[in-house]
Amino acid sequence: MQNQPVLGIDIGGSGIKGALVDLAVGDFASERVRIPTPAKSTPANVADVVARIVADFSGQIAADSPIGVTIPAVVTHGITRSAANIHKSWIDAPAQQIFSERLGREVILVNDADAAGVAEVMYGAAKGNEGLVLVTTLGTGIGSALIYRGVLVPNTELGHLEIDGKDAESEAAASIKTTLGLTYEEYVPRLQRYYERVEALFWPDLFVVGGGVSKASGKFLPHLKLKTPIVPAELRNRAGIVGAAWLAVDKAEHPERPA
Ligand code: BGC
Repeated sequence: MQNQPVLGIDIGGSGIKGALVDLAVGDFASERVRIPTPAKSTPANVADVVARIVADFSGQIAADSPIGVTIPAVVTHGITRSAANIHKSWIDAPAQQIFSERLGREVILVNDADAAGVAEVMYGAAKGNEGLVLVTTLGTGIGSALIYRGVLVPNTELGHLEIDGKDAESEAAASIKTTLGLTYEEYVPRLQRYYERVEALFWPDLFVVGGGVSKASGKFLPHLKLKTPIVPAELRNRAGIVGAAWLAVDKAEHPERPA
């Protein structure tokens, strides 16, 4: 893995954040820069904000260093395929190409939960786990990353499992707790239903729970009755940026692999 810091950028619903990442330790090598996500968050408008962040770090990254960017969407071969909680114009957009052309350099675009999951396995709560790790992020939606023996199976989208006839994230995302004003006691049965279903289908060796709500994991994780150990994420809001940088270098080092 690369010795120079690598720029990771995390595109979220309210903010676009970037920082240099030291991949030797899996942590930031600079301050984090944050710019609000444009109200009309189309690929082109978001690319403009990403360009401002890249410009902030221009003197500190080599011209040929790839930039890792996360997006809360399925990404196959650089094309964004879904848009559950983002502007619908991302569906089937050649987003990686739009970003690369706007920035004049190589951009690797990845799913946000995949990036967070890789970061947790490489540097965080699942570090050293040689089995099947399932990282979920509880936020506006539910993101998932499935990692087996250190290798990511991308775009698993387990937030959209249909459970009891409903889209799982519409019942169990952290945003639902906020919207409905649920207490943790009221929220726990929703999480229980979700994780027991995922467990019954995937049987991971470890669940890692990320997203903003994981700060308060003591209020819900101990109440879940599962056969699989379930632990909070450790990288918290650094995971997306760190994982994006890791995946960018990994992909750049293996151009022969399909994106
Ligand atoms: C999206 C995923 C994303 C997750 C977390 C879901 O609604 O479909 O692609 O990873 O939200 O942001």
